[in-house]
Amino acid sequence: MDKIVIEGGKPLNGDVKISGAKNSALPILFSTLLAEGEHKLSNVPNLADINFSLKILEALGAKTVFSNNEVSVEIGKTLETYAPYDLVRKMRASILTLGPLLSRFGNAKVSLPGGCAIGNRPIDLHLDALKKMGAEIEVSEGYVHAKCKRLKGAKIFFEFPTVGGTENILMAATLAEGETVIENAAREPEIEDLGNYLIAMGAEISGLGASTIKIQGRESLKASNHKVIADRIEAGTFVVAALMTKGKIEIQNIVPKHLSSFIEKIKETGAVIEVGESSLTVDGSNTKNLSPVKIVTAPYPGFPTDLQAQMMTLLTHAKGTSYIEENIFENRFMHVQELVRLGADISASTKSARVNGPSNLKGAPVMATDLRASASLVVAGLAAQGTTTVNRVYHLDRGYDNIEEKIRDLGGKISREK
Ligand code: UD1
Repeated sequence: MDKIVIEGGKPLNGDVKISGAKNSALPILFSTLLAEGEHKLSNVPNLADINFSLKILEALGAKTVFSNNEVSVEIGKTLETYAPYDLVRKMRASILTLGPLLSRFGNAKVSLPGGCAIGNRPIDLHLDALKKMGAEIEVSEGYVHAKCKRLKGAKIFFEFPTVGGTENILMAATLAEGETVIENAAREPEIEDLGNYLIAMGAEISGLGASTIKIQGRESLKASNHKVIADRIEAGTFVVAALMTKGKIEIQNIVPKHLSSFIEKIKETGAVIEVGESSLTVDGSNTKNLSPVKIVTAPYPGFPTDLQAQMMTLLTHAKGTSYIEENIFENRFMHVQELVRLGADISASTKSARVNGPSNLKGAPVMATDLRASASLVVAGLAAQGTTTVNRVYHLDRGYDNIEEKIRDLGGKISREK
């Protein structure tokens, strides 16, 4: 199994171009199931999760080509409506095949996505909403079996603003009969990006980015073209890397307002960050002591859970005690013990953690446990004195396009060993 070896203590300096957002590209790829024809997507990151998605689309009968961050998906008049366990189990987002297949073909059999290291992650909210739209749903032998004549528009209230649930229902509603209103919808920029592609395909949607979204169902949609938005989580990870290594990085090709709550917290630590139109410049070269802060993860526009691990790593450099509360997933502190191995002083219970700083991190072998935890360990390794080996690095390949080369271009010493 591959591992990443980092010689830490070198400042990262220069420019980095951020790739397209994984969490936009995945739902948009699955939305192609809604319309016949050739869909052309650009700024698609080259990631393991994207390749899993393309395999799923191919298994359903699509033809796909992926090169130079561009994807072409050719969708036929008819498709398979069965997404098997072997493909689905690799990635939870594959449950996003359910809404489009059911809505377009009136039936779908999709494997339950299964467990996940960061928490239980049920799909009850997706299924309840589809039932409200008239679907008959049975869960048996590890599969969701869903059928309907034609989905009917309905009023859906999510008791929690689920990202995947909002996406599944948004897609399903575009071909339903009549109007669907989603209340307490998730407001993540990636949902807006998906909605914009659905609109490009001919869907009628209002309220994207707000907590009430209205969709007027159409008889059919048409394949179109779309450029995926930048990955705000990758951008935030490089902000932390600049500050941790006391370097200066210009982070380019991004939408800074997608990172507002994160940028506010970075400013609260006293770090120097300049917000441009489509860039952020972070200068850690003169940073002496960062101030401790309190982080509470919340649905967008709150502080993103996907940047919690990286922020915790940064706070090991702040002078004093920082508090972190994780409200989205029940098991998202697995990086704590690994950061402690690198010399951090952190104590955590299930939902909250205290970080006492500043700590001088020292290189050690560590284990990546999930995608964002892996990123936090790489960033910690870049700042630590000596050698850090990050094992189980396949998690990182699921979500960061070309991360080693980007780090090397900034002057970091990082390599991969088999
Ligand atoms: C998406 C993101 C993930 C991010 C998360 C929260 C993608 C591919 N993944 O995941 O990177 O960390 O949003 O911002 O976009 N829940 C239920 N029942 C449901 C659905 C969700 O209880 O039917 C719970 C989950 O267990 C979790 C919470 O709601 O505790 C948030 O889940 P959700 O917003 O659905 O996240 P994902 O779409 O899985």
